[in-house]
Amino acid sequence: MNQPTPPYIPRIRDPATPIVVAIDGPAAAGKSSTARWVAERLGFYHIDSGALYRAATAAVLRACGAQQWNEPDVLTAAQRVSARDERRSFVLLVDGVELEQEMRGGAVTQNVSRVAQMRGVRDWVNAQVRSLATGRSVVVDGRDIGTVVFPDAHLKIFLIADPWERARRRLIQRLGRSPADQQIAEETERLVQRDARDSTQTVQAKDAVLIDTTYLTQEEQVERIVALVKVLKGGHGRTTPDKA
Ligand code: CDP
Repeated sequence: MNQPTPPYIPRIRDPATPIVVAIDGPAAAGKSSTARWVAERLGFYHIDSGALYRAATAAVLRACGAQQWNEPDVLTAAQRVSARDERRSFVLLVDGVELEQEMRGGAVTQNVSRVAQMRGVRDWVNAQVRSLATGRSVVVDGRDIGTVVFPDAHLKIFLIADPWERARRRLIQRLGRSPADQQIAEETERLVQRDARDSTQTVQAKDAVLIDTTYLTQEEQVERIVALVKVLKGGHGRTTPDKA
């Protein structure tokens, strides 16, 4: 069930305070596109933590192949990833080269959960994310942003959607057209399997606002989150009572 507003949203009294908005949720729930759009609307930076795991995985596959890995080699490969600041977002590079297509491809998608399960890789990604966020207002998307990376985030959103709908949207994004039911069924199966592999690292924070986007348009979900940030900044809405 949708829960558009949380019980309390604490107001930020100092307008100079950098704001952290955390958007978590399962695979293909629309986190990154929503986070990018919300960040644009608010003039915040967007940080896609999943892209860091994907870039690290692309680096690992290039350096070690897809077979046996040991954590030190994986970490060495992951550290070949760097971030270039571009229009309030970050383009990820492996050895200085952009690998966007490879990062979104099947091999990386198949292997990314394995890489993301390694403690050292998670610590490394979390340190990168915190460093990129330092001193600026950000919208950060991932799976454990509101629980592990920024447990004190000012606003936490947990986006969910029906698996069939998530698969349908992911295929439209990839193919640029409406997919056939058989394709959606196969993609749903892959998504559900990835959800299972990611289950330990995908955690809804207790104070997160749950938004089920199955029947929402992208505009509607962006609008809801932007409205919540406005509450945070002192606009209307249900807020913590004044302590005065
Ligand atoms: O966009 P999609 O939901 O397909 O995935 P993503 O955000 O690009 O993340 C790719 C993978 O990175 C996930 O399947 C997780 O294994 C991992 N990940 C994670 O473990 N923790 C995060 N905070 C973000 C991503």
